Amino acid sequence: MKDNNKKVYVETYGCQMNFSDTEIVMSVLSDYGYNETDRIEDSDVILLNTCSIRENAERKIFNRLEHLRNYKKKNSNRIIGILGCMAERLRVEIIEKADFVDLIVGPDEYRKVPQLIENILETGEKGIAVKLSKIETYDDITPVRKEGITAWVSVMRGCDKFCTFCVVPFTRGRERSRKIGSITDEAKKLFDEGIKEVTLLGQNVNSFNDGGRDFSDLLRAVAISVPYMRIRYMTSHPYDCSPKLLETMAEFGNVCKYIHLPVQSGSERILKLMNRLYSVGQYLKVLNLAKKLMPGIGLSTDIIAGFPTETEDDHKLTLKLMEEAEYDGAYTFAYSPRENTKAYNMEDNVPEEIKQRRLEEIITLQRIISLRINRNLIDSTKMVLLENISKKSPEFMMGRTDCNKTVIIPRNGHKAGAFVNVRINNANSATLFGDECLIN
Ligand code: 5AD
Ligand code: SF4
Repeated sequence: MKDNNKKVYVETYGCQMNFSDTEIVMSVLSDYGYNETDRIEDSDVILLNTCSIRENAERKIFNRLEHLRNYKKKNSNRIIGILGCMAERLRVEIIEKADFVDLIVGPDEYRKVPQLIENILETGEKGIAVKLSKIETYDDITPVRKEGITAWVSVMRGCDKFCTFCVVPFTRGRERSRKIGSITDEAKKLFDEGIKEVTLLGQNVNSFNDGGRDFSDLLRAVAISVPYMRIRYMTSHPYDCSPKLLETMAEFGNVCKYIHLPVQSGSERILKLMNRLYSVGQYLKVLNLAKKLMPGIGLSTDIIAGFPTETEDDHKLTLKLMEEAEYDGAYTFAYSPRENTKAYNMEDNVPEEIKQRRLEEIITLQRIISLRINRNLIDSTKMVLLENISKKSPEFMMGRTDCNKTVIIPRNGHKAGAFVNVRINNANSATLFGDECLIN
């Protein structure tokens, strides 16, 4: 490994996949002698790993870029690079709006980042690499992870579902999967390094396919290869969330009983317009099987408010479905039109105030449901994996249950990485509170 004494400062925006990709970029760069710094003023290279999922995610990056202009002015040799989905989607606009950006690299071209940087330093030419690949999985690259007790393991990339609102199939390209053997090797290595929990990541993990072996085969293989490690995964598409997958989850004690299953809408008509490929009935069937096989399973979802043509009745159907599903949590968004997607050609005809009002109603209802579920957990005992000192107070530690509930307990000399039995004694809609309790 070389040491070129160059320091890289990275900011990552958007989904977990981007955070995992940043670890890959840092790995590629560290092979060329680059070191990461968390002090932007010390950096030779500034990278933003960006998100395009909604318009405000992109707006945020353009604002950030305006600020970074000053860092370029202070040191004109400093390289400023845009990675990720915006690099893929908006390369022309980025150069127009922020001509000081030197480097633009899409999600499938991260191996080229070091050479592109060298070339910029030698020639002063901008480095642009935005080809999407049908095969790149970065299978052979060991991500450079920050210290901690949990880790992301990316298992597949891209998405072929083409939901009509979503830009991901355009920015991240076609689905492709890593090899099961390479994933289990990585999990074993992480366990040996002291990692206690891995999350298997993909835009749509249920489409995982390694020579005919599907995602439940992968989950089984990982669960067997690291029997003392907690295993999570995200994100699943309800269309191909099979009974076999749910049965595999139920079978293994080290597979967390938590599933993030984005529904997007409770209206049959809107689901069709979204090309989600399932009906409300089929969705609930999957959810009910999960609840039956794994009583108490943690459930979360994604919901979009104000998709084109959404009526008040459609919106009410979403609220009704939320009541029926009884999610522990929901990630909720106002519809944002994205160029190139099919929905972009539909009129964005739900006025902004109505979108926002519906979104508020969804958020409020979810808060009520989450609070009800969490309060019901008071006086129960949960096994909690402690992750960090609480952000709010150094006297407390934060951890999560197998069902993905955040739990706060007094620190009392506990260390991150410990599994602790906790008696829950209080709850709000987002967090459980409790004390360690010794039981056998
Ligand atoms: N507008 C609003 N929300 C969106 N999502 C994806 N595309 C859009 C869009 N154009 C949401 C979906 C998806 C989550 C990751 O982001 O709910 O599941
Ligand atoms: Fe986007 Fe749909 Fe693919 Fe998820 S499944 S990344 S929402 S196109």
